[in-house]
Amino acid sequence: MIIVTSLKNSSKTAKKIAKDLDCKFSQTKVSSFPDGDLYLQFKDDVKGKKVIIVESFQPNSNETLMNIIFAAKTAKDLGAKKIILVCPYLAYMRQDKRFNEGECISSRIMAELLNNSIDKIITVDPHIHRYKSLKDIFTIPAKNLSANDVIADFIAKKYKNPVIIGPDWESYQWADKISARIGVEDTVLEKTRHTYRDVDVEVKKQIEIKGKNVIIVDDIISTGNTMIKACKKAQEMGAKSVNAIGVHGLFVENALKKMEKAGFKDIFSVNTIEHVTNKIDITPVLLEELKKELPKKK
Ligand code: R5P
Repeated sequence: MIIVTSLKNSSKTAKKIAKDLDCKFSQTKVSSFPDGDLYLQFKDDVKGKKVIIVESFQPNSNETLMNIIFAAKTAKDLGAKKIILVCPYLAYMRQDKRFNEGECISSRIMAELLNNSIDKIITVDPHIHRYKSLKDIFTIPAKNLSANDVIADFIAKKYKNPVIIGPDWESYQWADKISARIGVEDTVLEKTRHTYRDVDVEVKKQIEIKGKNVIIVDDIISTGNTMIKACKKAQEMGAKSVNAIGVHGLFVENALKKMEKAGFKDIFSVNTIEHVTNKIDITPVLLEELKKELPKKK
């Protein structure tokens, strides 16, 4: 038997998953004691069951990591058979090396903590840059799903005459695949990151942008500054409209307002993180993988 739960961030997706798998959804209670210590309580019996914890790492990635570890360890303690973490957005992945002396490599520490708490992780478009795959940090089965197809189908339905821009080198993983599925041109910009909040982009491969509806696609929209710089380039090159799609819309520090001010026509995200910009549904992709966990029919 399977039980689907969520903690604080992803109850909408968790409920959809439970409904489609025809399993019970049980909201786990997560709160704090007066002194701030974490309080967590499963509301249904998990003994002997597979527990699917659906929990994205935003908002509050540090707190979320703690919540997931406490939930997984508690479920095991209560006799759960297998703990599967579905985290549509996996945090900490951008810190994949020591950029400055003395820094922690957060992605490795996060993975180590999860390796010790859960049995399997399923995530969507994790920020893989210097790692070859999730296997570089996870010792448990780790499934890396992609939103590329649902994004491509959304663009094909919504926009006439689109071209795709990836705002930095790593974004070729989305830009190339999405443009190939729709059959349109794409270009990937070169980004220089000066600080967490200050970037510059340059066009290395010119494509015809004049009069086209430009869709800038990136894995993460955090401060929005990468998107804003890429938007300026597309505007300078004569785009008819400039639109943004992020797989993971974090939109920190008023990013959405800043992007609207920069002249974006549409700003959409995949629902890997619950946000007002969610227009593209990742649930079908998650379900395809999760159906493998259902008992085999005799
Ligand atoms: C980093 O390389 C990612 O792919 C994104 O481009 C980046 O996280 C976006 O961050 P921000 O929105 O703060 O510019």
